[in-house]
Amino acid sequence: MLIKIQPKSALKTSDITDESVYLQRRQLVKSMGFLGASALIGSAIPKTANAGFFDSKDTDITNFKTTPLTFATDTDNLSLIKTPEQKVISHNNFYEFGAQKHQPAELAQNFKVNPWQLTISGECDNPITLDYDDLTTMFSLEERIYRLRCVEAWSMVIPWIGFSLARLLNKVAPNSSAKYVVFETLHDPKQMPGQDDRRLGGGIAYPYVEALRIDEAMNPLTLMSVGLYGKTLPPQNGAPIRLVVPWKYGFKSIKSIVRIKLVSTKPETTWQKLAPSEYGFYANVNPNHDHPRWSQASERRITSGGLFARNRIETLPFNGYGEQVAHMYKEMDLSKNY
Ligand code: MTE
Repeated sequence: MLIKIQPKSALKTSDITDESVYLQRRQLVKSMGFLGASALIGSAIPKTANAGFFDSKDTDITNFKTTPLTFATDTDNLSLIKTPEQKVISHNNFYEFGAQKHQPAELAQNFKVNPWQLTISGECDNPITLDYDDLTTMFSLEERIYRLRCVEAWSMVIPWIGFSLARLLNKVAPNSSAKYVVFETLHDPKQMPGQDDRRLGGGIAYPYVEALRIDEAMNPLTLMSVGLYGKTLPPQNGAPIRLVVPWKYGFKSIKSIVRIKLVSTKPETTWQKLAPSEYGFYANVNPNHDHPRWSQASERRITSGGLFARNRIETLPFNGYGEQVAHMYKEMDLSKNY
């Protein structure tokens, strides 16, 4: 492998690639919304394409009130340098509130999370519906300090609060036909302006849907998150409850969930449907499988530095969680099942 050493002062293309990547992705969904999928899939944008500017900025969160949570602290991952809270809550992907990084924090402040209903049903013996209070009281809560790797090649370290999805699924007692678990975000265009404004919402067909294989869903790492940094989730991060799957690209970690369904056949998911050659069902973080339009070999870790802080690090297979999850994919060709 050829390693090119750059002078310290030079701003490398790689420092800003993830922003151009997200702009390309935004362009893709916009264009697909307006031109139709066949017009764009496979379009030849070079891997080095660079839009050359940022739209990310820290937003002052004023309206939405978060509440402190009681939880067991994560003492296993204290060595990870956490992304500052202000970055975590102001640099977001939540297309229902706009496809630019700063828009969710700005447009989601009046989002109503209480009352809320989350239904878990399908191939199981005891379907249930949880209300807002159940989400934080049904199970003891624990902190999990996880790396979050976005498909756009940026990453953060976030102290989530929540409980294992396995505990929730065990409650509903999946039957032997339950092979996949499907998750759906609230569909409420009055509150989520991107859902009926194609330009704002990136041309996605809402509601946003994601899914896991049942063994992935039951893996102890898979978290239902109700909070971060010790408090309930702000709306831009997926209040009142979201999924966090730390070994997969961030788009699998669906936000503001109202429905979980156990099903027998592999479902279609939002990004996979939009551009199947770019976003797979599995979406396991894989430095050896590039996105067709950009490299996945490295990422920009968002830390306390400014936008131009150089925090380029190597991407790890399964985002560094291989020991806990690689066994689930032993028989699979990961370049085909991306
Ligand atoms: N969930 C919904 N409903 N809508 C979205 O647009 N974006 C995904 C994921 N969950 C998204 C979503 C993507 S691409 C990422 S990287 C993560 O949320 C970002 O989570 P964060 O904003 O809390 O960092």
